Amino acid sequence: MSRYEVTFRVNGEERRASVRGEATLLRTLRELGHLDVKTSCEAGDCGACAVLLDGEAVNACLVLAAQADGCEIVTVRGIGTEGNLHPIQRQIVEKGGVQCGFCTPGIVVAAKALLDRNPAPSPEEIRRGLAGNLCRCTGYQKLFEAIAAAAQEMRG
Ligand code: FES
Ligand code: FES
Repeated sequence: MSRYEVTFRVNGEERRASVRGEATLLRTLRELGHLDVKTSCEAGDCGACAVLLDGEAVNACLVLAAQADGCEIVTVRGIGTEGNLHPIQRQIVEKGGVQCGFCTPGIVVAAKALLDRNPAPSPEEIRRGLAGNLCRCTGYQKLFEAIAAAAQEMRG
């Protein structure tokens, strides 16, 4: 079975791994200890495993680890931490957009990608930006409101 030596940066830190050709980025990140990247469907359906890969939101379960060689990866912990929440995270908390929290890392990553490319999204654009993320708890409306509020806050 072929193995590949891969090197990428995760939240600014260089990480190396020896991976099999079929190893997904999701499993590799979690084996490296990045448990903030959630694993659920592993089929590209839920968005729980979303990370930024060279600035684009991707489902890490659909990317091979070998494809990420040389890439810059940002997980939810690279966007903000408990002690230093990003406006997206703070607004999601303040607007009541977290219940079980399982979807939240992927939601934050998708919202960050959206606001990076479109700092003033319309309600419809926010809905489309989260179209790949499933949340079984909140009903989405609070998440949409939180992202709109974060966008406004970030624009000052
Ligand atoms: S675990 Fe990757 S999209 Fe669901
Ligand atoms: S808060 Fe539970 S799945 Fe979204």
